[in-house]
Amino acid sequence: MAESMKGLHRTHRCTEVSAQNIGETVTVMGWVQKSRNKGGIIFVDLRDRSGILQIIFEENDIGTEGFEKAYKLRSEFVIAVVGRVEARSGAVNDNLATGNIEVRAKELRVLSEALTPPFPVEEGSKTKEELRLKYRYLDLRRPDLQRNLMLRSRVATLTRQFLADEGFLEIETPMLCKSTPEGARDYLVPSRVHPGNFYALPQSPQLFKQLLMCSGYDRYFQLARCFRDEDLRADRQPEFTQIDMELSFVDVDDVIDVNERLLQKLFGEVLGVEIKLPIPRMTWQEAMDRYGSDKPDTRFGMELKNVSEVVRNCGFSVFTSAIAAGGSVRGINAVGQGEMPRKKIDALVDYAKDFGAKGLAYLAIAPDGTVKSSFTKFLTEEEVKALISAMEAKPGDLLLFAADKDKVVYDVLGNLRLEIARNLDLLDKNQYNFLWVTQFPLFEYSEEEGRYVAMHHPFTMPMEEDLAMLRTQPGKVRAKAYDIVLNGTEIGGGSVRIFQSDVQEQMFEALGFSREDAYERFGFLLNAFQYGVPPHAGLAYGLDRLVMLMAKEDSIRDVIAFPKVKDASCLMTDAPNVVDEKQLKELSIALTEAEKTM
Ligand code: AMO
Ligand code: AMP
Repeated sequence: MAESMKGLHRTHRCTEVSAQNIGETVTVMGWVQKSRNKGGIIFVDLRDRSGILQIIFEENDIGTEGFEKAYKLRSEFVIAVVGRVEARSGAVNDNLATGNIEVRAKELRVLSEALTPPFPVEEGSKTKEELRLKYRYLDLRRPDLQRNLMLRSRVATLTRQFLADEGFLEIETPMLCKSTPEGARDYLVPSRVHPGNFYALPQSPQLFKQLLMCSGYDRYFQLARCFRDEDLRADRQPEFTQIDMELSFVDVDDVIDVNERLLQKLFGEVLGVEIKLPIPRMTWQEAMDRYGSDKPDTRFGMELKNVSEVVRNCGFSVFTSAIAAGGSVRGINAVGQGEMPRKKIDALVDYAKDFGAKGLAYLAIAPDGTVKSSFTKFLTEEEVKALISAMEAKPGDLLLFAADKDKVVYDVLGNLRLEIARNLDLLDKNQYNFLWVTQFPLFEYSEEEGRYVAMHHPFTMPMEEDLAMLRTQPGKVRAKAYDIVLNGTEIGGGSVRIFQSDVQEQMFEALGFSREDAYERFGFLLNAFQYGVPPHAGLAYGLDRLVMLMAKEDSIRDVIAFPKVKDASCLMTDAPNVVDEKQLKELSIALTEAEKTM
């Protein structure tokens, strides 16, 4: 039976009540965390989004009827309590903000009863994620998720404040857009009015924000929902939120400057963490050579070393043939791991194979200097010495080498480095290592499509000094693009944009688009550029990823209220679902027989 809250007004959230209120009468409302009956006294932990407050019920204070109601309280009932704040009579609980007080109830109303929840609503739940996501509304009651979403809200508010103070305007861009596939797969929305035609949900507001620059808005931002039909991972959702921005009359340094100050404000005010400016910068090439990754985690060393020159003429054909084929041999030094058991080394070899390694050559130096290795039998003593010295290895160290095309070697060792760091617990979530990665290649070659594709997007400006190579050696052209990386996660990225039509034409040419293709897809932007376009540049953060790292979580699902699972479905609402024949008919959509039975 639900009672009304008529005549009652909540005076405090649970943890807003403190020792300063002792003697006052307060009205609090929330959920019953737990209830204990200690022979004539009932203790209830009352929970709201602020935390927990202890309520004490005794028949003397609340009367027989009230006490009987209190007796029937169960977990997750929603109640209102009017009572007097007192110093805690029993043991003080230092773990609670309100651990030194309690509220002696004078009135109790049961606003709503509750079924027994399918899992306990508690911090650090051990319940399987599938079950939690099916009952997400209960999961979201747990204090850890509530903290995460409150943190997310604070980040959003501070971002808006900061950017508004810096002269940015918040402008919304459409959700129903034209499909211009280049990048991830689009989510399509059928048009009823134009049978056979489709909108696409935006992968990002990229083209619209550039148009806003053409229209003179100068500085734009938006907390923009983006949609990408890609394979999901811990840091990828089909819909996610960007802090998206674009600025006119600027170059790389201006974008970096305003964003460093934004990050400094967010981390300072939300976490009390001081970010020292300027944030270090590294070119893409240096990041690949030293860390085998374009998003290096710089919280630990174990950097890659190129030993191709040392082993170029050795007797180990795995090494020499990789070099002869234009690849390289590189290694990492897992300092102090020279006595890693064979089983663990084999596990690392298997891990490396997941990233395309054909094998992994190891060289372990025992503390007494004896060498155990899968390949030194093919090398002379001098060559082994030279290799150890090139890797700056000492007795007790473990060296791991990959030989292949550069791309494979980078990927294998870059990931191996992270795996070893995880295994050795080297990654401190309280340490925040920011890094700008700059001068990305403009293109990457897609074996699948047999052509160059834009590494960022087709509107990214090449570096001035590389412009001459756009037609002749596109693979060598570097871009005025930058990513902001935090602890090995790409939290944001952006670029200076092309605003000269001749450069844009060369860009499309290199991408293999004809003039007609380009106009068919992006005509509105190219036309707009003919009416006076300011030089402009921008950046977008993945808000979910940023908040995930700030909340020290491992998955963006833990900072999104209603996330989707790996197959892009929602376990709570069962989306996506089958729709009525009538709806399909209106949209002029016919299903194949196979889909009808699915
Ligand atoms: P980009 O594609 O790099 O750039 O996206 C910007 C940031 O968005 C985040 N992100 C994602 N987060 C969660 N789930 C996903 N599926 C996902 N995909 C990307 C990443 C990434 O750094 N328009 C350009 C920005 C620009 O040039 O201004 C863009 O969208 O953290
Ligand atoms: P094999 O002669 O093929 O048995 O290889 C000898 C050693 O070299 C084994 O430890 C393999 O794991 C390793 N190995 C094989 N291919 C590569 C490679 N591409 N890079 C590094 N090591 C490799």
